[in-house]
Amino acid sequence: MAATRNSGFDDPFYQPADEFFPANNKLALTFDDVTLATLYSEILPRDTQLDTQLAENLRLNIPVISSDMDTVTESRMAIAMAANGGLGLIHYNMPERQQLSEVSRVKNHVHGLIQEPIQVAPDQLIGDVLKMIEERKFAFGTFPVVDDKGKLVGLLSGHVVKPRYAKRKVAEVLTPRAQVHTIRQKELGKDPIARADKFFNERPGIHKLLVVDDHDHLRGLFTMSDIERITQERNAQFKPARDARFHLICGAAVSATRNAFGELDRECILNHVGALVERGVDVVAVSTAHGHSQGVGDTVRVLRDAFPKLPIIAGNVTSAAGVEYLAECGANAIKVGQGPGSICTTRIVAGVGIPQMTALYVCSRAAAKKKVSILADGGIVKSGDIVKALTLSQAVICGGIFAGCNEAPGDVIEIGGKLYKQYRGMGSLAAMKSGSAARYGHAANPTQKVAPEGVEALKEACGSVDRVLAQLIGGIQSGMGYLGAANLGQLRDKARYIRVSPAGMREAAPHDVVELKTGN
Ligand code: XMP
Repeated sequence: MAATRNSGFDDPFYQPADEFFPANNKLALTFDDVTLATLYSEILPRDTQLDTQLAENLRLNIPVISSDMDTVTESRMAIAMAANGGLGLIHYNMPERQQLSEVSRVKNHVHGLIQEPIQVAPDQLIGDVLKMIEERKFAFGTFPVVDDKGKLVGLLSGHVVKPRYAKRKVAEVLTPRAQVHTIRQKELGKDPIARADKFFNERPGIHKLLVVDDHDHLRGLFTMSDIERITQERNAQFKPARDARFHLICGAAVSATRNAFGELDRECILNHVGALVERGVDVVAVSTAHGHSQGVGDTVRVLRDAFPKLPIIAGNVTSAAGVEYLAECGANAIKVGQGPGSICTTRIVAGVGIPQMTALYVCSRAAAKKKVSILADGGIVKSGDIVKALTLSQAVICGGIFAGCNEAPGDVIEIGGKLYKQYRGMGSLAAMKSGSAARYGHAANPTQKVAPEGVEALKEACGSVDRVLAQLIGGIQSGMGYLGAANLGQLRDKARYIRVSPAGMREAAPHDVVELKTGN
């Protein structure tokens, strides 16, 4: 039977990383330049484990992180990523105060509790409520009624939100406060979902439970359908990524801020990260385009000294020397990627950067020596790219794949009957003007004289993060099944590579057919 598992005939063709990449050291390779060879497998895709350890205090249940970009990750995206077992890095293109509240939103998020339910006022007309539903395309018609001090005065049931009552005031038709089912915030306990589930069980026919504080101010809303969905999901394979206190985990990006004299502003950096830590941030990412630089190294050192246990991500680099430098400064996880991003123009503008698979290989060998992890950042457009990246890294960072999701910041734009969302590079002029210039080593208010290293673009709207991640995770698990890898460590150990010709690449995609439905 052993003959069916391994054959010497394969060896000259399908090589492990330490043979394949050195043998191809004259050419920088990226995802589409290589393919992975299948191996004897006893592993079904659905049985594969995707958890990954990025630092002593940072473990994810899936190896996927959303980019710290202003058109990708704010609290909604970070909540969705952590709820699926991954991580969101909140960008820093906003005032520090706002970034702190974005982190708080994630850390205070109670799964299933709508924390800021849409409310109506007692003196509004039902006609106005109908107009709001129409304009904002709400799929629901029941709203808590709250006075101008935030106090709950009743519930407006969907049964009375009808055109025939358009001229009536909300106050005339609401269900009065005394008859509205509520629970005190402090009675929710450690497992709010179980508490809400019990409530709905005990009161057949009631579908809404409002949460109030001691002064009867509205603090949230549970709906029975959400609770049912979540209780079903609890059996899901990939659990939310949580901290020790059962809160969703959250990351935040910081920059290597400089003062008016061009020196590193240590005090400002420490105050910023100190405030993030107070809000419960689980990891900070020192995010710049050139991580193998004095400013980034010094920032990491300052943070490591002040916060010995805080997981620190730093980058970006594409060399072993860069990894070693940041690891020695105290980083736990290092972002690898210069110029692969879908909105990046660094390679065109500055003429630098290394295609991802070669960069990942070189960096991964230095990372293993330094006992730090590697995050493959940028250039990922399909789940197969993630599988290839994970053969050399502990997790991937994606921007473009998530930028079209409902949870990404920004509005949906309709063009020619198709729906899009804005997606821009943090090195685009517009993003740098909003605050990301330091990431590219430029002054705070760049002018046209600065060469942008990113473009402003659109992504087709693609629905929820849950849906997109389900596709990606399915792909990663398939890849692992083909390689007989039960977990990500085995995937890294077992991977064998071979180069692909342009004809081989064409063969890999659907061809010679009229496609009726795309694969995604
Ligand atoms: P994807 O391919 O996922 O890439 O869209 C996202 C990653 O690209 C990096 N990034 C940039 N790189 N110019 C660059 O050269 C930019 O303007 C820019 N903005 C983002 C970043 O690492 C991100 O995670």
